[in-house]
Amino acid sequence: MRFEGKAALVTGGGGGIGSAIALRLAEEGAAVGVLDRRGEAAADVAVRVEAAGGRALALAAEITDPDSVAAALTQMTDAIGAPDVLVNNAAWAVKGDLESTALADWQAELQIDLDGQFVCAKAVLPGMVACGAGAIVNIGSVNGLVALGNPAYSAAKAGLLSFTRSLAVEYGPKGVRTNMVSPGTVETDIETWRIRREKNPQIFDQLARWYPVGRVGQPEDIAAAVAFVAADEAGFVNGANLVVDGGLTAGLPVMIEELILE
Ligand SMILES: NC(=O)c1ccc[n+]([C@@H]2O[C@H](COP(=O)([O-])OP(=O)(O)OC[C@H]3O[C@@H](n4cnc5c(N)ncnc54)[C@H](O)[C@@H]3O)[C@@H](O)[C@H]2O)c1
Repeated sequence: MRFEGKAALVTGGGGGIGSAIALRLAEEGAAVGVLDRRGEAAADVAVRVEAAGGRALALAAEITDPDSVAAALTQMTDAIGAPDVLVNNAAWAVKGDLESTALADWQAELQIDLDGQFVCAKAVLPGMVACGAGAIVNIGSVNGLVALGNPAYSAAKAGLLSFTRSLAVEYGPKGVRTNMVSPGTVETDIETWRIRREKNPQIFDQLARWYPVGRVGQPEDIAAAVAFVAADEAGFVNGANLVVDGGLTAGLPVMIEELILE
C-alpha cells in the first residue's frame, strides 16, 4: 500500500500500459485519475479499478490542449484530490520510416509524444511544489535510446529523456522527483503494434528472440517499474531512466549466435 492516501494521474490510462499502471497504483492505495482522449476507454478502466476494490475517476481530455488538461485537473482535484503522482504515459506513433514521414506527421507525433508531456507536467507542478512533494514518471521507450524505426516517435522519446532530466534538476530541490521508465516491446494494441500484428500475427513471438529473457513485455511489467520509481521508497531516485526491456538494449543476442561459431 505504497500509495495509501495519495492521488495519481495517469495519462493514456485507457490504453494497454496505462490501464495496467492505473490498476497497479490503485491496488497499492492510490485514488487514480484515468485520463484519456478516448473517454469511453478511460471510463471502462475506471470501472475495472473500482471492481478490483480501488478508487478511480475517468477524465476525458486531450493532453496537447492546456485548457483540456486544466479542466481535467480541476475535476480530479475536486473529486479525489490533486495528483501526488503524474504518469505521463499517453503517446501515439504511426510513421515507420523517414521516407514516409512528412513534416506534418513529424509535428503531429512530436506534439502528442513530447508537447503533451510538457503540458501535463506544467499543469501539475504548481500543486506539487505547494505541497513540497510529488513524483512524475515519464514513459519513454527503447526507441528513444537506439534506432528501431518510428523516427518522429523516437525523437520525441529521446527529447522526453532530456525533459525528464530538466524536471529532475529544477524541481528536485522543491520536493518533486522525476524519472523515466523506458519499455521495450510490450504487447498492447497501440496503433503501431495493431498495424504490424495485422500484417504478421506472430510478430510478438518472432520478436522474442531479440529479448534475452525470451519474451516481450506485458503491461504489468511496466506498471511494476512505474510503481517503484513513483513510491516514496525511491526517494533518492531522481532523473533516472529505468530501462524495462528484458535486456534488449544490453546486447545483440542474434549477433552473438552468429559470432559463436565454435
Ligand atoms: N507497447 C509498446 O510496445 C511500448 C513500448 C515502449 C514504450 N511504450 C510507451 O508506453 C506508453 C503506452 O503505450 P501503449 O502501448 O499502452 O499504447 P495504447 O495505444 O494502448 O495507449 C495509449 C493511450 O493514450 C491515449 N492517447 C493518445 N494520445 C492522446 C492524447 N493526445 N491525449 C489523451 N490521450 C491520448 C490513447 O487513446 C490510448 O488509450 C506510451 O508512452 C508508449 O510510447 C509502449
